[in-house]
Amino acid sequence: MKDRIETLLGEIEAFAAQNAEQAEQFRLNYLSRKGKISTLFEEFKTVAPDMKREVGQLLNRLKTKAEEKLESLRTRSESEESTSGHTDWFAPSGAPQGSRHPLQLVRREILDIFGRLGFTVEEGPEVEDDWHNFSALNFPEEHPARDMQDTFFIDVTDPKNPHALRTHTSSVQVRILEKTKPPVRIVMPGRVYRNEAISARAHCFFHQVEGLYVDKAVSFADMKQTLLYFSREMFGADTQIRLRPSYFPFTEPSAEMDISCTICHGKGCNVCKHSGWVEILGCGMVDPAVLSNCGIDPNVYSGFAFGMGIERITMLKYGVNDLRLFSENDVRFLGQFGGG
Ligand code: PHE
Repeated sequence: MKDRIETLLGEIEAFAAQNAEQAEQFRLNYLSRKGKISTLFEEFKTVAPDMKREVGQLLNRLKTKAEEKLESLRTRSESEESTSGHTDWFAPSGAPQGSRHPLQLVRREILDIFGRLGFTVEEGPEVEDDWHNFSALNFPEEHPARDMQDTFFIDVTDPKNPHALRTHTSSVQVRILEKTKPPVRIVMPGRVYRNEAISARAHCFFHQVEGLYVDKAVSFADMKQTLLYFSREMFGADTQIRLRPSYFPFTEPSAEMDISCTICHGKGCNVCKHSGWVEILGCGMVDPAVLSNCGIDPNVYSGFAFGMGIERITMLKYGVNDLRLFSENDVRFLGQFGGG
């Protein structure tokens, strides 16, 4: 009998269970009423009296061992099942990794560059009223931009101040100037809408970053230096800029700014139409009438403003030749830009 107990002790020691079912099998085999250990206890009655003490101790040890083993088998199989039965949120997923949208990458870069010059970020609504999008910005009553052909109107119940999707981020200039005493030094990113036929070069919505600096004695030279710094940070230290006279109702004087072509570096290519220059933004000194409209004295303050299209900058920076790619959500296109 002693030998059989020793054998069982060895068996129990070595037993391993993979799951709760096998742990239960262990219990039935050794510890149930008809199990091997109970059988030994039955037989114990017949053990010779002088052996009872020794065999009894051995038998009790066997039972305790079996119970301890069962306990450990049960807790182990429980925890294993809980990990295999549930999602392990920390396991590597193997799912494809997303990337940032190229427009988002460039937007962030533009804001970063101006941030280094002390410009802070402001935003405004995409549904705008006539005052903020046009009138306060000195657009004359009969300006073509106010026409249905160019602007998506939303609500014209008040013909004096209809609501439309903003056609540019210049509306945010007005919103901020109305409620802030200069100095104001801000960049204003956002989506804008124009009623245009969609093509490789035009879309009914796109994105702009507007800039505005109003303080005492802000000059055209300040604007030029700011935009030169921006261009060189964005497109490389050897980038040249060129300002051409232009017209916007809300700036005087106004200009359009070109940079030396990033593709051919001035040698002439399709992107710059063999001129060596590509236009990237509109700018100018804030028209005194705009300052007055916002309650700011133009005799005390002056400022400059600029507005650029994020799509345009992105196309030049990454050599993208079709505006539609930005909104088609083709992951083969979007995945090329990386950036976390
Ligand atoms: N709002 C102008 C546009 O959309 C750009 C601009 C902004 C020009 C600020 C001058 C000053 O074309």
